[in-house]
Amino acid sequence: MASVKLSLGPFQGITDAPFRNVFKKHFGGIDKFYTPFFTGIQKDHAKNMQVEEIDPRFNDVETLTPQILSTDAEEILRFASQCKELGYKEINLNMGCPFPRVANKKRGSGLLPYPEKIDTMLCQVFEKIEVGFSVKCRLGYVNPDEIYSVLEVFNKYPLSELIIHPRIGKQLYKGEADVKRFAELMPLIKAPLVYNGDIVSMESFECIRKQVQPVNEFMLGRGLLANPFLAEEIKGSCHTKDIDKPHNYVIDLYEDRLRHAGGSPKVLGRMKELWSYLMNSFDEPQDIWRKIKKINALREYEEAVETVFREHTLI
Ligand SMILES: Cc1cc2nc3c(=O)[nH]c(=O)nc-3n(C[C@H](O)[C@H](O)[C@H](O)COP(=O)(O)O)c2cc1C
Repeated sequence: MASVKLSLGPFQGITDAPFRNVFKKHFGGIDKFYTPFFTGIQKDHAKNMQVEEIDPRFNDVETLTPQILSTDAEEILRFASQCKELGYKEINLNMGCPFPRVANKKRGSGLLPYPEKIDTMLCQVFEKIEVGFSVKCRLGYVNPDEIYSVLEVFNKYPLSELIIHPRIGKQLYKGEADVKRFAELMPLIKAPLVYNGDIVSMESFECIRKQVQPVNEFMLGRGLLANPFLAEEIKGSCHTKDIDKPHNYVIDLYEDRLRHAGGSPKVLGRMKELWSYLMNSFDEPQDIWRKIKKINALREYEEAVETVFREHTLI
């Protein structure tokens, strides 16, 4: 399926620069990546931008889009100009984050019930921005009809891309993505459109793709964290699912994280987060999760990973 374009959605706490680089070393199929969101860009040359996460020495500026969570046009412009200086071509605004501590402050998906606020913000952003500007959003925060007024606002501006995850914020990640509603919205949208949500297998991809034709850009999320072969499968470039590949990927990522953390067991948190998805690639996932979730020591983790790859099979 060569014409399909695939990206990997950002995951705070998982898909950081070490993850993206190790993933790319072991697996293919992803055309574009996004950073998990940045916040608090209070100054030019902000300290939180001088990190490996966005440093072009560790990232490919052609295929990575930095993301910001903000409702402040000045902050978004400050972020955009620093990204431009670093060589990036596009930034993405997070209007999808569902977590109450974010949404209650009218940020992330909590901004969707306020189209006038979005309009004022975008008007100021588009007056000055010098890189591409894309948005990732949901159907609404409390009600999926919120999207209609928001789309009228989006259509006033030249968004480089609009990624829609068809859930509402209040749902968090529960229930199902509303693919039917996404398809109904398609004729109302001017920006290049990207579908995101619940693509977990070749079958679910095919089923969603049929419903959202002619959209041909898809953002993968938990499905790819669970099955790192998924993008290659969709692109038709996965010929064998060799267990050595995920094994080497998990080891490489762990060793890379450990190097960065100076050998500290705090790396276990991020590795466990990944395993909470990756376990689904194996037979007996709950068995694997029981082994891994309680681990607090590096040695124990290393032994548990070896046991998983020795005693379990990929499904
Ligand atoms: C733990 C976690 C962290 C996430 N962090 C971000 C983030 O920083 N920015 C963002 O736009 N989306 C974030 N997302 C949402 C995912 O990128 C994606 O949109 C979501 O999982 C739906 O796609 P899926 O059904 O394919 O998983 C996060 C999701 C989870 C579960």
